[in-house]
Amino acid sequence: MEEKINLLVAETIEKIAAATDGKTLGEIKVAVLGKNGALTSFMRNLKDLPAEKRPEVGKYVNEARAKLDEQFEKKGNELFEKELAAKLESEKIDITIDKPARPIGGRHPLNIVRRKVIDFFTSMGFVVTDSPEIETDYYNFEALNIPKDHPAREMQDTFYIVPGKILLRTQTSAGQIRTMEKDKPPIKMINVGKVYRSDDIDATHSPVFHQIEGLVVDKKITMCDLKGMLEKFAKFFFGEATQIRFRPSYFPFTEPSVEVDASCPHCSGRGCRVCKGTGWIEILGAGMVNRHVLEGCDIDPDKFTGFAFGIGLDRITTIVYGINDMRQEFENDVRFLKQFN
Ligand code: DAH
Repeated sequence: MEEKINLLVAETIEKIAAATDGKTLGEIKVAVLGKNGALTSFMRNLKDLPAEKRPEVGKYVNEARAKLDEQFEKKGNELFEKELAAKLESEKIDITIDKPARPIGGRHPLNIVRRKVIDFFTSMGFVVTDSPEIETDYYNFEALNIPKDHPAREMQDTFYIVPGKILLRTQTSAGQIRTMEKDKPPIKMINVGKVYRSDDIDATHSPVFHQIEGLVVDKKITMCDLKGMLEKFAKFFFGEATQIRFRPSYFPFTEPSVEVDASCPHCSGRGCRVCKGTGWIEILGAGMVNRHVLEGCDIDPDKFTGFAFGIGLDRITTIVYGINDMRQEFENDVRFLKQFN
């Protein structure tokens, strides 16, 4: 009997070792240890043995069973690990896989210059504000001392959403009024954004362009403050050797008003293509805030004075980079844009 058991155990261990998957292993187990399994039948047949032999053979069968159990478990774990590893391998996603490189864009020249302008003014203590592109006639014209039928409206014809009432702003100057209604002096702000005019597109005009408005209102602000600050701005932007000059001008919301030129940074004032041979380039409009504008915002013009300025961002960008056609700033031709990064 022991010999038969030994043989069965030895054969089973061989089969276990040869099993290649969980299913085969399960079948071997049922055939040997199952209800009708080969080893189980030895147990069942114990009753046919003489009583004194039963305990000894019973013990032998149990030991064989324990031995086989151990082998099944060991092999079972081994096969499980192997199957798991194969499954993980087949489902693996390689997140480091190489993809064709996507070209990386760069900053638009207008944004490079915008950031530089903002850097300059924030370093001087200006607060950056924002105001709506869809404006009312009041903020865009009326409150800036440009009443209905004023000839200054002629140059700033725009796109109306509600005729005579709601429009696409023609100037960031509208933001001056919004700030002065909200905050009282001391005020030191810039307002940066898009403006619109119903202009035909050519090398120097576009129906949408960008402005940077500046406003300072406090006690004893004079034209000297304006001039000193603009000189610093021009030098920061175009180089230390840059000179500025003021030419008398007219804006309804400033009195007096000036147009400000910088000496041409491309030819140091000698005259070239960029400055059209004059040696000077117009960079912005400015002036002392008109008292009517202050009054309209409930600021006492006898106590407070201020200066304002409006810079054409697109224009400054064409000057800085020597771009000869403003349209290139809006066409988004990558061959053009690539040159700035
Ligand atoms: N808003 C003017 C324009 O679009 C520019 C300007 C001129 C703004 C003088 C100002 C200023 O604040 O003081 O033509």
